[in-house]
Amino acid sequence: MPETCDFTVFGGTGDLALRKLLPALYMRDHEGQLPPDTRIIAVSHSDLDDAAYRLQVRAALAEHLAPGVLREDVLERLLARLHHVTLDFSDPDGWHLFHGLLKDRPSYDETVRVYYLAVAPRMFGQVCERLDEIGAVDEHARVVMEKPIGHDLESARAVNESVGRVFEERQIFRIDHYLGKESVQNLLVTRFANTFLEPLWNSSWVDHVQITVAESLGVGSRGGYYDQAGALRDMVQNHLLQLLCLVAMEPPTYVDRETVRDEKLKVLQALKPMTPEVIDRDTVRGRYDAGQVDGEVVASYDDEVGAGSRTETFVALKTEVQNWRWAGVPFYLRTGKRMDRRASEIVVVFKRPPHSMFPQAEGVTTPNRLHILVQPDEGMRLHLTAKEPGPGGYRLRPVSLDLAYATAFDQRLPDAYERLLMDVMKGNPTLFMRRDEVEAAWAWAEPVLHRWASTPEQPLGYPAGTAGPTAAAALLERDGRTWQELD
Ligand code: BG6
Repeated sequence: MPETCDFTVFGGTGDLALRKLLPALYMRDHEGQLPPDTRIIAVSHSDLDDAAYRLQVRAALAEHLAPGVLREDVLERLLARLHHVTLDFSDPDGWHLFHGLLKDRPSYDETVRVYYLAVAPRMFGQVCERLDEIGAVDEHARVVMEKPIGHDLESARAVNESVGRVFEERQIFRIDHYLGKESVQNLLVTRFANTFLEPLWNSSWVDHVQITVAESLGVGSRGGYYDQAGALRDMVQNHLLQLLCLVAMEPPTYVDRETVRDEKLKVLQALKPMTPEVIDRDTVRGRYDAGQVDGEVVASYDDEVGAGSRTETFVALKTEVQNWRWAGVPFYLRTGKRMDRRASEIVVVFKRPPHSMFPQAEGVTTPNRLHILVQPDEGMRLHLTAKEPGPGGYRLRPVSLDLAYATAFDQRLPDAYERLLMDVMKGNPTLFMRRDEVEAAWAWAEPVLHRWASTPEQPLGYPAGTAGPTAAAALLERDGRTWQELD
């Protein structure tokens, strides 16, 4: 169990707080993981007292928790922890009132204070400065930053600088919620707590790697943010690169706050630079048109956000990790909104056997593939070739070995935020992005943004409810490969 904590959420009435953070805190309380005198303090502009905020949270939990987990006794306990502070960030008196609330507890000096910045990134520096001015930052304080951290390398550095003037790096937790997903954490265990994969996990045996994060949702009500970001900033620069790092990294000697992040950083630094020629040849950007998703007619991005936008809602690209292990192995990445389904998967495609003693296998079998299923159903599937039973000689067939978490483990799979929020309270930053990682990721992605911004071409259209623009398929076909069907 973590130490007693005052968990403050700046942006406490926002979508992230109500949809993700409070349900995650409820679940940890449900599991008996929150110390009894832990408080949750929501800060926002809204004119709410504690009672009104508690009502809002009650409704949000009823809406966002999984069916059957809401228990009245746990709910009452969680609601009693909640406070709301109405704060205009430019009002010094408001900040002093807020600090008064923090100090209004018996063990102020020993209490861990978490400041979760669920507000626009341009506010990060200002909030940290005010916290410092009122004297609310000491060695017990931690700050959590949601992405996006900046919109390019320079602005990311500026955010990191301004927050870093107040908090030491060990106190800063940059969330990439993909790192809290069970199947993503299991990637490290699969690779490094077993022996059978690691000898094959290199350019001698791996043909290529595919990483897909497909969403069926559109931008919905987040158009204002999304139109300034686009899929490269919103998903590739962080979530997809983090997945790539975990697939490609070298084994650390042990797992601790720095070793894993050191190894991920080396991967980011080894990514093939995105020169103009590489970008023109190896990247595809798209934007959804109207179409049908799950049988429903949905509007185009332009209709949702307004015509004239140049923002991409889909990206596919090819890159390489230029080091000894991975030289020459393509890593294909793709992500998009309004695709045919919601599915995130990493597929490691192995080379074919060096010699075929089964001519019948031609055209029947596929190369071995390991599918790491990130969502919606977490698990792993290894595609193999087997002999079809029967006396009729060697008839070969593709088969699969399946590990579905839902059936292999008799446990509820926690949401990514549950794990990450507990890690913040316990002071463990292993699953959070370090400043150098974030900046290395921007340094790699930024030339792509500049190149796209400098061309008059628009992203390619794709009908909502499909696998993206046809050029994304062509990116692999050109190399004699295809996107693997998602399991
Ligand atoms: C967020 C992006 O970081 O991740 C969203 O800003 C995206 O645009 C979301 O929808 C996807 O997360 P998940 O966990 O639903 O795959």
